[in-house]
Amino acid sequence: MSEQNKETTSSLNAKSQAWSGRFNEPVAELVKRYTASVDFDKRLAEFDIQGSVAHAQMLAAQNIISAADLAAIEKGLAEVKQEVQAGKFEWLLDLEDVHLNIEKALTDKIGDAGKRLHTGRSRNDQVATDIRLYLRAVCDDAIAAIKKLQMSLLDLAEQHADTIMPGFTHLQVAQPVTFGHHLLAYYEMLKRDASRFADCRKRINQLPLGAAALAGTSYPIDREMVAKLLGFDGVCQNSLDAVSDRDFAIEFTAASALLMTHLSRFSEELILWCSPRFAFIEIADRFCTGSSIMPQKKNPDVPELVRGKTGRVNGHLMALLTLMKGQPLAYNKDNQEDKEPLFDTADTLLVTLEIYADMMRGITVNKDNMRQAAFEGYATATDLADYLVKKGMPFRDAHEVVALAVKQAVQKQCDLSELSLGELQVFSESITEDVFSVLTLEGSVASRNHVGGTAPQQVLRAIARAKETIHSQ
Ligand code: ARG
Repeated sequence: MSEQNKETTSSLNAKSQAWSGRFNEPVAELVKRYTASVDFDKRLAEFDIQGSVAHAQMLAAQNIISAADLAAIEKGLAEVKQEVQAGKFEWLLDLEDVHLNIEKALTDKIGDAGKRLHTGRSRNDQVATDIRLYLRAVCDDAIAAIKKLQMSLLDLAEQHADTIMPGFTHLQVAQPVTFGHHLLAYYEMLKRDASRFADCRKRINQLPLGAAALAGTSYPIDREMVAKLLGFDGVCQNSLDAVSDRDFAIEFTAASALLMTHLSRFSEELILWCSPRFAFIEIADRFCTGSSIMPQKKNPDVPELVRGKTGRVNGHLMALLTLMKGQPLAYNKDNQEDKEPLFDTADTLLVTLEIYADMMRGITVNKDNMRQAAFEGYATATDLADYLVKKGMPFRDAHEVVALAVKQAVQKQCDLSELSLGELQVFSESITEDVFSVLTLEGSVASRNHVGGTAPQQVLRAIARAKETIHSQ
């Protein structure tokens, strides 16, 4: 810091810190840096201003400040907002946080009216309001981004409603499924994610202002008016809870961690599928990088990073839970630590969703390899057992019979459908020529023709239903 700057900041410190009159010595430099939050909470500036304007309008409506003061505050805050947006606002560490920085800048512009803005308010209810306004906007952005990703999933699923791949349990080939059906599983997860953000938004959207420091205020305030001006659904009902509650931040982070967990699972699959051992898909080059040493490599960096960043968001959830677990009522400075995990969660989530939606459009499917993998894995064994049951055999017996048939096919190194009728009849006399229609992969998937089943017809229906409801979700 230059000598001149040092001077300005320390004289500001003496004059501007709201509580400085009580103190006999200035705060230590290191402590100042340790306790300041302006470096990260300055991104709440626009929400802080929005909250202050509504608060001032209420103060004027209640005759707590004059109409002239309100006019000056509105004008001054509009100027501050412009400076912030233009990147011209000078943030000072000495002024600790976004709230004190803005209040001081306002007071420098308009004098005493600026000093009246904080009437009936504390930074405790102010910061709680700012974060709620911020997170409400993030929830809306997250829901919109989820829908975009869902739309690109639906498009890909539609192209592959009848593309056959092996379905896995224990990562062993289990039964054939359609790729479209597999993708729709993620559509469902994302649908629940969107509804979690919408639900969490309801609890975010309650106004803390009016709680003041912790006990409420003796001014004749109108909290309902402020709530209405800021688009909140209602007001927090207990002042102690209002200033100290961070449940909504934890809920938001939990919903984000769960969404990231879904995308991490999906990423794990994409990584496997584009490994040459599977070679089910290719991911467009714009999502991959090469190796600085191995010229043949094309690495699925984006899904790998999504998987990695999920750990980071899960960590933020743990940080917030731990932040709250030992706090007595009401506000404690600990709460300042909510911001960095929250901001990073929101940033990570939104950029991941955006990149993922585009990545869906960059997936090329190798249908032959998918089909071949299903074909080689005795994926229609259950279909043969079901066939025998329909011919009157108890399921447990049918299961055993098919196990023996699979053993024979393994020995002959062929698929079940490649055994001759005669060979199959050794296992059961009730097997007839029609068995081959259930032993094919296409026959197998087509037979699972009910809501939630993998039949191509059902996949197309599910896509149609999804496209109809996605915007009312
Ligand atoms: N920067 C503080 C925070 O983020 C604002 C509230 C400070 N209140 C206080 N009483 N120190 O939590």
